[in-house]
Amino acid sequence: MCEPGANAFQNGSADSFIAELRPEESPLLRELMEFAAVNNVPILRPDAAALLRTLTVLKRPARVLEAGTAIGYSALLLSEAAPEAHIETVELDADTAALAMRNIDRAGRADCIRVILGDASEVFAALRGPYDMIFLDSAKGQYVRLLDDVLRLLPAGGLLVADNCLFYGKILDEPADAPHKHRTIVANLRAFLSRVAGSGEFEASLLPVGDGVLLAVRKDAQNDPRK
Ligand SMILES: C[S@@+](CC[C@H](N)C(=O)[O-])C[C@H]1O[C@@H](n2cnc3c(N)ncnc32)[C@H](O)[C@@H]1O
Repeated sequence: MCEPGANAFQNGSADSFIAELRPEESPLLRELMEFAAVNNVPILRPDAAALLRTLTVLKRPARVLEAGTAIGYSALLLSEAAPEAHIETVELDADTAALAMRNIDRAGRADCIRVILGDASEVFAALRGPYDMIFLDSAKGQYVRLLDDVLRLLPAGGLLVADNCLFYGKILDEPADAPHKHRTIVANLRAFLSRVAGSGEFEASLLPVGDGVLLAVRKDAQNDPRK
């Protein structure tokens, strides 16, 4: 029960209430979550995963592009939510990409999900759109460098989702005050968020879900009443 004067969010009870409402993951996704936890593989947090699933069901994309495959958890989640979609997912690390491919094979989704080994900035530059949905979950300091290609690959109405936009709260530090090793990432992530929010190219919302999920819909420049 909430204390008088407190609300469910202040005493944390909302988190467990919300968690109880989340649907069960499929057995393979559950297994991948357990593998990730044991082996310190960073994958989507459960609340961000639930949001991504809901957005994908809503969007019904035919083509999805992801940066940052890791072990294939989010690619398989996207594929569960949009079984007809063709998903391309880019992973820099060869061993991790191989593991993702094995997991995707085990799920019987190899026809729908293509793992591309490489640096997302190089791979994105070589791809041709349009994609209905792009999910960024690779190196956070790199998002800003992907943005020109995201704009080229995503048509009006296309959905951009980016995870870890709060960078474990470090985004709140002024770049100059951030620990040296995080300074460039914080500066780049801030540049990415400002450009998405301020350029007029997207209708965007940064949600405090998981580690900060950015949702941005590519605007139709011709039909923007605020211009
Ligand atoms: C947070 S994990 C991705 C988690 C995954 N999307 C999930 O939720 O299941 C980030 C992944 O991005 C990969 N990565 C880092 N830099 C990258 C780059 N420049 N291009 C492609 N992948 C990259 C890392 O090797 C790592 O596997």
